Amino acid sequence: MKIQDTVLAEALPESLLAQLRSHLFAGREEIRAYVHSFGCQLNVSDGERIRGMLREIGFTLTEKREEADLILLNTCAVRESAEDHVYGILGNIKHEKVRNPDLILVLCGCMASEEQTSEYVRKHYPFVDIVFGTASLSRFPQLLLDHLEGVKFACDTGEYDAMYEGIVPSREHPFKAAVPVMFGCNNFCTYCIVPYVRGRERSRRPEQILQEVRELVRDGYREIMLLGQNVNSYGKDLPEPITFAQLLRQVEAIPGDFVIRFLSSHPKDATPELLDTILDSRKIGRHLHLPVQCGSNRILKAMNRRYTVEKYLETVDYLRQRDPDFSLTTDLIVGFPNESEEDFQDTLDLVQQVQYDNLYTFIYSKRRGTKAAEIEDKTPDAEKRQRMERLLKLQREVATAHYQRFLGRTLRVLVEGESKREGFLMGKDLAFIIVEFPGDPSLIGQFVSVRVTQTRNWAVEGVLVTPEEEQQ
Ligand code: SAM
Ligand code: SF4
Ligand code: F3S
Repeated sequence: MKIQDTVLAEALPESLLAQLRSHLFAGREEIRAYVHSFGCQLNVSDGERIRGMLREIGFTLTEKREEADLILLNTCAVRESAEDHVYGILGNIKHEKVRNPDLILVLCGCMASEEQTSEYVRKHYPFVDIVFGTASLSRFPQLLLDHLEGVKFACDTGEYDAMYEGIVPSREHPFKAAVPVMFGCNNFCTYCIVPYVRGRERSRRPEQILQEVRELVRDGYREIMLLGQNVNSYGKDLPEPITFAQLLRQVEAIPGDFVIRFLSSHPKDATPELLDTILDSRKIGRHLHLPVQCGSNRILKAMNRRYTVEKYLETVDYLRQRDPDFSLTTDLIVGFPNESEEDFQDTLDLVQQVQYDNLYTFIYSKRRGTKAAEIEDKTPDAEKRQRMERLLKLQREVATAHYQRFLGRTLRVLVEGESKREGFLMGKDLAFIIVEFPGDPSLIGQFVSVRVTQTRNWAVEGVLVTPEEEQQ
């Protein structure tokens, strides 16, 4: 998509707001909306923008679905299980509609972007009132008005029209903020539905992103997570192209005490400029999430990932030569069609070699319309599940050994909340490692120093240290 097609949406027009309010508030003082986002952080971030729109219209946001006058499900389509989950919830909500016939039910997000799915919903879940895809996010208020004016099944899965600048998100977290830098994906990995439900890559203008981050830092946010399906191709479509590394440096230059993280990086586009920017930074987490998907060149080719294991390892070596403790995490798919035992063994070898701090693992799920869905798959499901267990067992061993490097060290930790263990808090250090330690909940939202005393296979444990103790 060309940048000229991307009109920047301003705040919601007053005339539209007035019409919506006159319908919604006829005879009532308060009207409540429940928004639930499934899937990745980009979807959660879209959900925060939708919450922002609803708030501007006049809705009160609620966490209780049963007391809502409007329920909005912002869906994910990446795996079949994600879709099944949403259909299960729709089945339950049907009863709530019987209880409250005025309840407005909205389905949006990645599932709703597939035309076949919206047709399926129209047929099998006719009590859904509004359906819109990721392309139509800024048209949601108009769809809501159409519904209130009597349109049955107001549906828009059309073309991308706008980039919702001007809508202030209603954020779910008080000190960690997600900031999308780009939308869509051009990569068409053969297993993946995302390019079909999110469209082509569209970058936000750097000045809009920087403005948003400045405001967040001013408001006390301590973690800024920059988001895109492949942030490494950020800026290529802008009238004045800039690289993601340049954007990172501009974000880092914003004064304030905050940590910068980002997701996701495609290994084929991880440039030395990007790696140096991370390594030279004081605010960017010393961690890279670099999804490899599998360790076999044969499967990587079938996945259309456009790198080899050798090329991937060059990036890993570059980082570890400059910082031997550099933290890496990855995504892995087990059981891509016709993955052999030998291919899987290559994945195990890679995990052993790279020493990841964490893995996000998925059993391959066939997605209608993708290239891989056309492949006849001969690997039995039971075999795939067994491979997954072997992979997880190996990772537990790898992480247990690898986390030892933190023993005795003092880590700077952003305290995120109370841990499940009584009297303990949990947070993450710059390398994105989970850290648990005894402490008072008043520290939540602050940076503290923790000396590591024990390690486990998913976290480290330690004790708080004062600045004086840190010097020793
Ligand atoms: N754009 C990101 C990237 O390429 O790294 C990832 C986005 S995707 C939402 C997150 C992860 O879901 C992918 O890295 C992949 O491991 C997994 N995934 C995507 N499609 C899948 C499928 N059909 N079956 C199983 N896992 C899948
Ligand atoms: Fe999906 Fe590949 Fe795009 Fe990631 S890069 S969103 S895995 S198509
Ligand atoms: Fe994200 Fe799921 Fe869509 S992972 S982009 S919400 S398909």
